[in-house]
Amino acid sequence: MRIPLIAGNWKMHMMVRESVNFAKDLWELIKDTKDREVLVCPPFTSLYAVRQAIEGTTIKLGAQNLNWEDAGAFTGAIAPPMLVDVGCEYVIIGHSERRKIWGNSNEDVNKKAHAAIRSGLKPIMCVGETLEEKEADLTRQVVGTQVEVGLKDLTASELKDLVIAYEPVWAIGTGKNDDPAQANKTISFIRDVLGSRFGHNFSQKIRILYGGSVKPDNVDGFMNMSDIDGTLVGGASLKVESFARIVKFKYEEANQDVHR
Ligand code: PGA
Repeated sequence: MRIPLIAGNWKMHMMVRESVNFAKDLWELIKDTKDREVLVCPPFTSLYAVRQAIEGTTIKLGAQNLNWEDAGAFTGAIAPPMLVDVGCEYVIIGHSERRKIWGNSNEDVNKKAHAAIRSGLKPIMCVGETLEEKEADLTRQVVGTQVEVGLKDLTASELKDLVIAYEPVWAIGTGKNDDPAQANKTISFIRDVLGSRFGHNFSQKIRILYGGSVKPDNVDGFMNMSDIDGTLVGGASLKVESFARIVKFKYEEANQDVHR
């Protein structure tokens, strides 16, 4: 059974006080919602305070990036053991903004995956095609390579807590979400890539999320798809009511067991 994961990526938003208030308000709104995992990924500056604000709740903490070295002269960078120290369980790697703005390559993402796992962090590895790649019918080729190279030289047992987030770049922050059925097909393809590399059983256990303009009014459509195990949410994770509604996504009657 793959427990749905709803993750909020706050990006470069929220001061410390706002972050703490958000975490407390979120818990009040979602504390009766069971059978799903909820994760917030604040900016580095809010991690410590949010960690304290979610003490005693089931909300999990994640970071948005990490450096692949454990310590050293890397001005401005954050090491994996520092994220563990501050209370993170997850870390996002290979987000399209890191790939595009900071030039992270698939090889860089692979180094970050190794570093996260070495420190016991659960990596959420983002993959996704650009609009040009989609229009050139290259989605599978691009996403397949991102998965293959991103997970190079890692074993199934090292990757047991891996999460993949399929985020078409053209859908991020644009309000143009992918069609749920189409996203499901690409995610099922990613599962096949994992299956041929690590075996069928492994591929059936790994959670693959959809991200890109997920909102309260479209989340149910994604979560009722057979291979979509959760969502990575940017903009709509910054308003507590909207993120809480996404956390409380609803299955249709016929789909109660869709992820079991
Ligand atoms: P969005 O961002 O929900 O604002 O499209 C998603 C993401 O970047 O993870």
